[in-house]
Amino acid sequence: MSPFLLTRTLPEDATGAALRADVLRGLTATPKTLPPKWFYDARGSELFERITGLPEYYPTRAECEILADRSAEIAAATGARTLVELGSGSSEKTRHLLDALDGLHTYVPVDVSGSALTLAGQALVAERPGLHVHALIADFTAALALPATPGPRLVAFLGGTIGNLLPDERAAFLTSVRALLSPGDALLLGTDLVKDEKVLVRAYDDAAGVTAAFNKNVLSVVNRELGADFHADAFDHVALWHAGREWIEMRLRSRTAQTVKVPALDLAVDFAAGEELRTEVSAKFRREGVRAELAAAGLDLAGWWTDGADRFALSLSTAH
Ligand code: SAH
Ligand code: AVI
Repeated sequence: MSPFLLTRTLPEDATGAALRADVLRGLTATPKTLPPKWFYDARGSELFERITGLPEYYPTRAECEILADRSAEIAAATGARTLVELGSGSSEKTRHLLDALDGLHTYVPVDVSGSALTLAGQALVAERPGLHVHALIADFTAALALPATPGPRLVAFLGGTIGNLLPDERAAFLTSVRALLSPGDALLLGTDLVKDEKVLVRAYDDAAGVTAAFNKNVLSVVNRELGADFHADAFDHVALWHAGREWIEMRLRSRTAQTVKVPALDLAVDFAAGEELRTEVSAKFRREGVRAELAAAGLDLAGWWTDGADRFALSLSTAH
C-alpha cells in the first residue's frame, strides 16, 4: 500500500484557542454570529455528507456532473503532479480528478476535520497503489505550509465552500492561494450560482431536517468544547435568501428569552425571544463576479464550465 501521512499543522491547543476567541467575539457581537468552520466535528462532517445526498441539495450533484464531464480536459490543461484540495471532506467527487490526472504523484487533502481526512485518506491509499496521500489538518484561511512535492501543482477548492467566507475573507483567502502558485500551477474553484430563490432556500431547509441538525450541531460543539449549556431544542433553524448580498444565511432563532452560560469563557449570553444567531453565509456567484474576484487576487480565468442546468460552475485560473 502507498503511504498515508496525516500532519497536524497547528499545535493541539490552537484549535481550542481559536474556538474560544471566535465564540467570545461572535456571541458578544450584535447581531450574534459564529463562523461556519465549527460545524465540522465528526458528527458535523457526517451530517454534511448526508446533506450532499438530499434531493433538495443540488450543488454536490451538479459539481460532480461537471467533474465527470471535464476532468480529462482539466487534467490535460494542468498536467498536475500534485493535487492540493482545500476543505476536502470525504474527497468523494475528487475521484474524477484523481482518475484523470495520469502523472499524479501526491494528493494533499487539507481540512479542519481530522476524522474526515482519516476516513478519506485511508480509503484512497487502499484503492490507489502508488498514489502518495499527505493529509493536512489545517485551517485554509491561515497561512498554509504545503509539503515539498513535485509540480505542477493544482489547488482545488470545491463544493462552493468559498461562498462560506465573507467578501473580505474571500479576498484575503484568494490572495493567499495565489501565493501558493508558481508559474504553471493552477486553481480549480467550485462556485454555486445565483438562481431561483425557492430552489436556493429549499437546498438549505430540507424536508427531512438534516440541514437543521447540521446547523444546530455547532451548539453541541460549543457545549462539548467550552462547557456551554445550549439546548438545541430552544432554537429554530432558519434559512433565508439575502437578495442584496446574493447569499443564503443560516441562522438559529431563539424560541424564548434565555441565558446561555459558557463556563470556559466565564460568559453568560442573553438571547431575546426571536433573536437570531447567524451561523453561516453561503454566497452564490455570477461569472463576472468570480472573474473579478480572481483578477483582484492576481489570478486569470482560463476555463469556466457549468452543469447542464447552469446551477454550479467550476473555474480554472492561473497566476499572472
Ligand atoms: N469539498 C467537499 C466538502 C465540503 S464541506 C465537498 O465539496 O463535498 C466543507 C469542508 O471544508 C468540510 O470538510 C470542513 O471540515 C472544511 N472546512 C471548513 N472550514 C475550513 C477551514 N477554515 N479550514 C479547513 N477546512 C475547513
Ligand atoms: C460546505 N458548504 C459549501 C455548504 C454550503 O452549501 O454552503 C455547507 C452547507 N450548509 C448548509 N448546507 C450545506
